Amino acid sequence: MTKKMWGGRFAEAAAASVEEYTQSESFDRALCREDILGSKAHARMLGKVGIISPEEALSLGHGLDQVLAEIEAGTFVWRRELEDVHMNIERRLTEIVGPVGGKLHTARSRNDQVCLDFRLHVDARLGRWSAELARLVNVLCERAEEHGATLLPGCTHLQPAQPVSLAQHLLAYAQMFRRDFERLQDCLKRVRVSPLGAAALAGTTHPIDPAQVAEDVGFLSTFANSMDAVSDRDFALEALFCGSVIMMHLSRLCEELILWANPNFGYVRLPDAYSTGSSIMPQKKNPDVCELMRGKTGRVYGALTSLLTLMKGLPLTYNRDMQEDKEPFFDADRTVSSSVAIMADMLGVLEFVPEAMRRALAKGFLNATELADYLAAKGLPFREAHHATGAAVALAEKKGVGLEDLNLEELRAFSPLVEQDVFAVLEFEAAVARRNLAGGTGPESCAGQIVALRAWLAGIR
Ligand code: ARG
Repeated sequence: MTKKMWGGRFAEAAAASVEEYTQSESFDRALCREDILGSKAHARMLGKVGIISPEEALSLGHGLDQVLAEIEAGTFVWRRELEDVHMNIERRLTEIVGPVGGKLHTARSRNDQVCLDFRLHVDARLGRWSAELARLVNVLCERAEEHGATLLPGCTHLQPAQPVSLAQHLLAYAQMFRRDFERLQDCLKRVRVSPLGAAALAGTTHPIDPAQVAEDVGFLSTFANSMDAVSDRDFALEALFCGSVIMMHLSRLCEELILWANPNFGYVRLPDAYSTGSSIMPQKKNPDVCELMRGKTGRVYGALTSLLTLMKGLPLTYNRDMQEDKEPFFDADRTVSSSVAIMADMLGVLEFVPEAMRRALAKGFLNATELADYLAAKGLPFREAHHATGAAVALAEKKGVGLEDLNLEELRAFSPLVEQDVFAVLEFEAAVARRNLAGGTGPESCAGQIVALRAWLAGIR
């Protein structure tokens, strides 16, 4: 039984079951790079302020580099009984550099250490999410540009409402993912705060320089209150919230693609590489990628709920409960980063079927608003125009035709204001083309949205 690094006052070893139950090494190994980065910064700072000698600081730095090299080479021996990533790394460091290894933990506690590691990790991962989101926005712009003239029924209540361009539909998602990106950048301001120097909870008597550590690891600032520093997990909660919103947006898009791939819609053909077959029904091509993405959204909400629940009853400051903060984030991170990446790849090769979308326009009287607006523009109060149009829709429905298929005489029966020019107004293309005010579905508006999104993309690179 190895003597614990904190074992000075303990006479008996922990029960094997307790050792297994309390360890975090099996999953917080994932923080090894961040742990070494943070420790190197801490050692440099200790040397700079004279708490350890410059030679000792150098020796610690080299030792930590060697530990990292061993981890990367796969020769590092992880020891479960050493509890966590921090103790594993410190133990090996001490084997390499000798007793000076024991000086690394001066003016530091695992409480501020683990928080720094986790913040560095979240920082790196949100960087990855951001890069994938930017790629996704870019793909959406490309596909929108291709489909400025492709029309489909825009829906409310999932009922045909008004014709829109596919570009406008895709750009709506581009806006969501742009906001998601921006939300991450705002969250990162609060992630990039170094807690190192808070020590266990009260700060330290050693003359340390926390700002130097923060600068060294590329963070923006240092903690303002030591007790808050070691017990704050808001940064991870915010990250999980951002991830939840990203997944919610992806899930909505997946839901639409699943509908659109159904032969009753037929708006998209799923690439073989992004669909699967059935083991019993030979004709099937299933949208499993979209379904799984919609399903995996629940895992990320679960991670957020899990961490919120974990934190709600904790008194200040650090509590061991907080060791449970990492796995939900790791799981959510795997889900979010892979989902955004796969959606970007899939959208790049997805085949849209403009003819099917065009055919769908014929059902559902999508040009009814055009007729009502036409009458209103000719001076009829909109409520009356709405009523007259409704009556025209009822007639067309009875005849099994579209509004545009009624003849002038039939239409004039609902209002004498109707003239021959109404037929141009009822055309779907015209309905879309008239909506060029900022943000509308008109082709100029969509082109403008693409220009603005691309300028934004260029600015964030
Ligand atoms: N493995 C621990 C965690 O993840 C590290 C901090 C331990 N601190 C302590 N006082 N036991 O939270």
